[in-house]
Amino acid sequence: MPYKCSWCLSLPLIAVIYVTFPANCEFPTLAHLGPQASDETQTKALTDLVKRLLGSRGSEFILLVNRSLARDDLDVCELRSAGGDKIAATGSSGVAVAAGVYHYLKYYCSCQVSWSGSQLSLPSPLPGVPGVLRLSTPHKFRYYQNVCTQSYSSVWWDWRRWEQEIDWMALNGVNLPLAFTGQEALWQEVYLGLGLNQTDIDSFFTGPAFLAWNRMGNLVQWGGPLSSSWHIKQLYLQYRILQRMRALGMMPVLPAFSGIVPKAITRLFPQAKVTKLGPWSNFNCSYSCAYVLEPSDPLFQRIGSLFLSKLLAEFGTDHIYNTDTFNEMTPTSSDPVYLSAVSRSVFASMTSVDSQAIWLMQGWLFVNNPTFWKQEQIKALLHGVPIGRMIVLDLFAESMPVFSSTSSFYGQPFIWCMLHNFGGNSGLFGTVENINMGPFEALRYPNSTLVGLGMAPEGIEQNPVVYELMSELAWHWEPIDLYKWASLYAARRYGVSHENLTDSWKLLFHSVYNCTVPKYKNHNHSPLVRRPTMHMNTDLWYNPRDLYEAWRLMYLSAKPLMSVETFRYDLVDVTRQALQLLTTQLYLEIKDAFQKQNLPKLLTAGGLLVSDLLPELDRLLSSESHFLLGLWLEQARALAQDKHEAEQYEVNARNQITLWGPEGNILDYASKEWGGLMGDYYTQRWSLFVNTLVQCLDRGKPFNQDAFNQAVFQVEKNFTINQKKYPSKPQGDTYDIVTRIFLKYYPKALKRLN
Ligand SMILES: *[C@@H]1O[C@H](CO)[C@@H](O)[C@H](O)[C@H]1NC(C)=O
Ligand SMILES: *[C@@H]1O[C@H](CO)[C@@H](O)[C@H](O)[C@H]1NC(C)=O
Ligand SMILES: *[C@@H]1O[C@H](CO)[C@@H](O)[C@H](O)[C@H]1NC(C)=O
Ligand SMILES: *[C@@H]1O[C@H](CO)[C@@H](O)[C@H](O)[C@H]1NC(C)=O
Ligand SMILES: *[C@@H]1O[C@H](CO)[C@@H](O)[C@H](O)[C@H]1NC(C)=O
Ligand SMILES: *[C@@H]1O[C@H](CO)[C@@H](O)[C@H](O)[C@H]1NC(C)=O
Ligand SMILES: *[C@@H]1O[C@H](CO)[C@@H](O)[C@H](O)[C@H]1NC(C)=O
Repeated sequence: MPYKCSWCLSLPLIAVIYVTFPANCEFPTLAHLGPQASDETQTKALTDLVKRLLGSRGSEFILLVNRSLARDDLDVCELRSAGGDKIAATGSSGVAVAAGVYHYLKYYCSCQVSWSGSQLSLPSPLPGVPGVLRLSTPHKFRYYQNVCTQSYSSVWWDWRRWEQEIDWMALNGVNLPLAFTGQEALWQEVYLGLGLNQTDIDSFFTGPAFLAWNRMGNLVQWGGPLSSSWHIKQLYLQYRILQRMRALGMMPVLPAFSGIVPKAITRLFPQAKVTKLGPWSNFNCSYSCAYVLEPSDPLFQRIGSLFLSKLLAEFGTDHIYNTDTFNEMTPTSSDPVYLSAVSRSVFASMTSVDSQAIWLMQGWLFVNNPTFWKQEQIKALLHGVPIGRMIVLDLFAESMPVFSSTSSFYGQPFIWCMLHNFGGNSGLFGTVENINMGPFEALRYPNSTLVGLGMAPEGIEQNPVVYELMSELAWHWEPIDLYKWASLYAARRYGVSHENLTDSWKLLFHSVYNCTVPKYKNHNHSPLVRRPTMHMNTDLWYNPRDLYEAWRLMYLSAKPLMSVETFRYDLVDVTRQALQLLTTQLYLEIKDAFQKQNLPKLLTAGGLLVSDLLPELDRLLSSESHFLLGLWLEQARALAQDKHEAEQYEVNARNQITLWGPEGNILDYASKEWGGLMGDYYTQRWSLFVNTLVQCLDRGKPFNQDAFNQAVFQVEKNFTINQKKYPSKPQGDTYDIVTRIFLKYYPKALKRLN
């Protein structure tokens, strides 16, 4: 039954707003889900978090978790001034109080915590809170991560980095995170127990950087195998991850069986109904074409429950399991009766082990393959599971919401998710208007089954502003004023408030962060990070003039702020974006000169690009600690047990961000603009392109794309295997480099606009 909220607070204004529209529907089946840790455990974990964040000043916060403060099963936090200039924060869960403390840090202390550094210069004494500051959320669940995040971002993380991320989750109110680490160790035990041998298993698992797609049945063996050292380290990480998440009051989501099995199952169980899938993406069957067990086969229940029993014995459970049977894969039949039976069986394999199981399913398949998934098919799949025992992630709701074309998932609860980023690409991007409207439209939708908001980026550590905004929207009951929000963001991010910086951020919000092209998929298609051709996509969703002006305003403010990590990061990122725009301009000039057979113009534009702009960009990126190829490679190697494994991981790490497969199968999907990668991969590729065009003009020959592709593949491949070392510490003075670039390229940028 929908209910009315009578006591909600609009943020950041301290004004009580009486909300008259219904909040999330209540599903009795979801009521038992919640933090399992005691209030004392959560209070302790929270206190430790605040101490990690603020050091000795953490003791100026009096923190208390009291679950009976929850209203209608929804999180609440209250902050007030206490004696001795302290701030008391009390809330219904560790996450609720952490979100409350972060709200206070943002809006009373003008501080920030982000992937690209924190700005935590706290005023002393702490500013008081007049009366009671009450935070509440209409959303029971605040979900975080995508099944791909593990491969694109966290694959090489150690516990220290995980700890930071879990702190970030708590501060941003996340209470439903995916926790997929270490599952291969358990799968291996299950398969060995069924009679497979190590050869069978080694020809199944991919390498670490590709596990997301092995789990989804897209890919086998590429980059593998996995060593026992890998399994042990990942298991150890998972214990710590789960323990910390639970201590803070989160409900980690564990994996379940989807039906994907190693090929050897067909040898050991020749009677089993196993289908060999077709190749995925641009792979052929040597690394793709997984085997999937029909959910109706008794072996499905056996494997599913073997795995889940092991999982529960190792890790315990919060009763929420994610699995996706048809991710980017077409089912063998579109018969609704079949599709219902499939989801019934998948769910049965969960309930046979955990009678309280809830199946969390990504709704990506409905977006990815709408020709197969018509109303009837979607409804059948969703209705194979009792209403309220499944939660659907409306994964890309900011651009392609599914709830509104499926009568709110035909009654199954769902979470409205922002996907935002594909492949963990660099590049400024956001759909701020959509995310500021979408969640509220979902909340007000007739008979809405919305139970939460989520963030499901394929990769993180980019565009921190978008994630801070999205997290915060879960604690609002109506859309916010975006320009006002952007101004406050600028002030807290740098710890100073001045007009040039707030203007710069307003311009960014008006341009790069305001993509309103319907169904636009944020996948960096800038020519800079794509293999050169004569027909590159040069479309933009924003006016370059706005970006250049934001750049200018940021640069003018730079000098006194260079010691502020968050500022340095943004200055580099915005300069990078400006050079990315200029690359597109130079590409168009190169192409035009070639087509008009104007050799001098080709030499000028081509020379500027490959001998100056790109090397400058490489130096710029190399000067900032968050843009280093060397760090990504160092982290990969650090996880290895010996030299051989270090080499394997390094190739995994290099291949994923470039060729993505042995032959450039998903070339540049996970592109990054990092120091080292810019110089030795993108610049080399552009040099070859420009040189090839010059030679063609010189000899009066047409440009041959196929021949160029073959030649450039050698450059790309060399990059993935050459083992050249890159610094994992920044080199050079960022301010000097930006100044040089600005003086040289800002006028060129303006000239090209006219
Ligand atoms: C928790 O909250 C309830 C309800 O407001 C209150 O009765 C109880 O005393 C509180 N417990 C603690 C330890 O503060
Ligand atoms: C695993 O079994 C296959 C098929 O019987 C066999 O070819 C292979 O040598 C075995 N591997 C090991 C390590 O026993
Ligand atoms: C399949 O892919 C592998 C690895 O990329 C390649 O070596 C092989 O030639 C391909 N086979 C066919 C039939 O295309
Ligand atoms: C909402 O649910 C009610 C009761 O089941 C039903 O009568 C009504 O038609 C529904 N509204 C919409 C717009 O689906
Ligand atoms: C985003 O663009 C839309 C359409 O042009 C416009 O209506 C809206 O005001 C813009 N929002 C921001 C924050 O600039
Ligand atoms: C702000 O920008 C203006 C030019 O647009 C400049 O004159 C001024 O010095 C800048 N202010 C600061 C504090 O950087
Ligand atoms: C391979 O890469 C290394 C390091 O960037 C470079 O020195 C070498 O010239 C490259 N070799 C070829 C054949 O491109």
